[in-house]
Amino acid sequence: MYAFDKGPILVTGASGGIGGATVRQLCAAGAEVIANGRNEEALAELAKETGCRTLPFDLTSEDSVKAAMDGLDIYGVVNCGGWGGEIATPMETDIEVFDKVMNINARGALLVTKYASQTMIRLGKGGVIVNVSSQASLVGLRGHISYGSSKAALDNITRVSALELGEYGIRVNGVNPTVVMTPMSAWYWGKPEIEKPFLDTMPLGRWATEDEIAAPIVFLLSDAASMISGVSLPIDGGFTAV
Ligand SMILES: NC(=O)c1ccc[n+]([C@@H]2O[C@H](COP(=O)([O-])OP(=O)(O)OC[C@H]3O[C@@H](n4cnc5c(N)ncnc54)[C@H](OP(=O)(O)O)[C@@H]3O)[C@@H](O)[C@H]2O)c1
Repeated sequence: MYAFDKGPILVTGASGGIGGATVRQLCAAGAEVIANGRNEEALAELAKETGCRTLPFDLTSEDSVKAAMDGLDIYGVVNCGGWGGEIATPMETDIEVFDKVMNINARGALLVTKYASQTMIRLGKGGVIVNVSSQASLVGLRGHISYGSSKAALDNITRVSALELGEYGIRVNGVNPTVVMTPMSAWYWGKPEIEKPFLDTMPLGRWATEDEIAAPIVFLLSDAASMISGVSLPIDGGFTAV
């Protein structure tokens, strides 16, 4: 359906649920994929299954990101690596958790964007970046002071990067998913007293699957989205629309 023939696509968070699904869909569509995470065993399994390359590095270390991406020719990036942090109010937040969640979700994505965009500009073929944000950046969600703030920062990274990189033919977009029952989210959103009232307010009334997040990411990476840049696309069953 899509042709991914312009160069490799780096997917961070590939050892996790949504990133792994994105790698599987991209490889099935014929893309050359470089899968990142820290868990080398999980990445090796994914490589065996899909034929992707692997590139472990730590999003919190600029040295690690820079060394991994030095001389790496890529056309696309999915910034999917992330951390859920805490469920806490502004009154009780652990500010060290805030720092860490900002560090991984916003600063980490910016570091990858920094070195990837330098490469894309050097190669002169344009490029595409998709940032995996969250519904938690679009509306105020209880308990999400740190995580929601980190994803709101990521949405701004999307907008400003789209502005700055457009002249090089590089598109930058974000997706804002609702909950997928990966280990990152199940411990909180799986509680009946949290799950039911939330789903009762969502038009589609159910959680997303990993593949339902991966498919719009793949679309935004493809030339089918060639005139789309700077958007934050909710994939939330209509939750933020009502
Ligand atoms: N699940 C949801 O409900 C949901 C909803 C909306 C948005 N999101 C976002 O979607 C993305 C993926 O979430 P997921 O549910 O698939 O989570 P997941 O299964 O927990 O995966 C998280 C991924 O991030 C990587 N990561 C975390 N810290 C890292 C670091 N310091 N350096 C490098 N990689 C790091 C992990 O790699 P290692 O384990 O190998 O270190 C793993 O691949 C995240 O950005 C998340 O915020 C998730």
